[in-house]
Amino acid sequence: MSLKKVYEPYFKIGTSVSFWNMGSERAKQELKKHYSSITCENDMKPMFFLDEKANMENPEKYNLCPTLNFERAKPYLEFAKEAGIALRGHTLAWHNQTPFWFFKKDYSMDKEAPFADRETMLARLESYIKGVLEFVQTEYPGVIYAWDVVNEAMEENEEDCWRKKSLWYHTVGTDFVQYAFRFARKYADKDVKLFYNDYNTFMPFKRDNTCEKILKPLLEEGLIDGMGMQAHLVLNDSDLNDFEAALHTYGALGLEVQLTELDIHATDPSEEGMKNLADTYDALFRILVKAKKEGKANITCVTFWGMKDDESWLTGFRKEKSYPMLFGDDYKEKAAYYVVMDVPGEMK
Ligand code: GLA
Repeated sequence: MSLKKVYEPYFKIGTSVSFWNMGSERAKQELKKHYSSITCENDMKPMFFLDEKANMENPEKYNLCPTLNFERAKPYLEFAKEAGIALRGHTLAWHNQTPFWFFKKDYSMDKEAPFADRETMLARLESYIKGVLEFVQTEYPGVIYAWDVVNEAMEENEEDCWRKKSLWYHTVGTDFVQYAFRFARKYADKDVKLFYNDYNTFMPFKRDNTCEKILKPLLEEGLIDGMGMQAHLVLNDSDLNDFEAALHTYGALGLEVQLTELDIHATDPSEEGMKNLADTYDALFRILVKAKKEGKANITCVTFWGMKDDESWLTGFRKEKSYPMLFGDDYKEKAAYYVVMDVPGEMK
């Protein structure tokens, strides 16, 4: 049995993938066995698609239509196509992992240089989205089934929740979100689903602001299909009642909901510590299956952010060793794996 098989009646099971996975036959076997969706951890972000050298060499020519390079993404697209695994595109408009020169007048590398004006940035945004979507849809039709159009426009520590430090916010304003989705809708194939994606989306303040300021305006224009809850959780800290409430809130808007980057930061690798992690995964997956069964949220995919503990970004990010995933060294199944596998059978 495998994760994707036991969850087939409910939703896809996904994982993020990195370049080292694409070079490993073992990783590819695991991917084919357990997962029905993959997301590039990094290689489809603007920093990899924007061709720095070419844009620098001819900033006048490319001022309104940045030139792009898709080499980094090809191994994933090839693999997904050959393995018949659906691919989520991640991500088109984000403040992070997008080079600062992209936001500057004449693509200047000088940090002090003035920013490009709003009209220029909107033209660059449209051209970028058009270029990415046309490439994947022409060369790999049907492989990418969903895009995170905008990532992390909200910030829970800001009074009005808008992420002021985003250079998209700075150069365009809050409606960069609306424009990004308009462009994505314009160029995306008909059956490609458009998602808004963010972290801590289960927290009530961020949830309510996201609904009012992002999702409802997009829904009014028919521009959005799904809400992506990243779901980077912390053991014994993230509130699963809040998580369930948020899931139902997004579901009630009529959007698809996906957990797009699930992991649970856990620092105690002892048997007891890993049992604690397993219990939390158990509770979470029960919430997910129940919401889907009862029609409270149309969950269509749950993506883990990494396949095994030693590949998780959390150890670097949290600066302490983390054991957050269902698999440990050498893809060894952990207690959490077994409980997650059992949930669908127990909830029949
Ligand atoms: C955010 C992004 C992801 C990734 C993680 C850290 O959640 O959406 O693309 O960068 O941070 O791995």
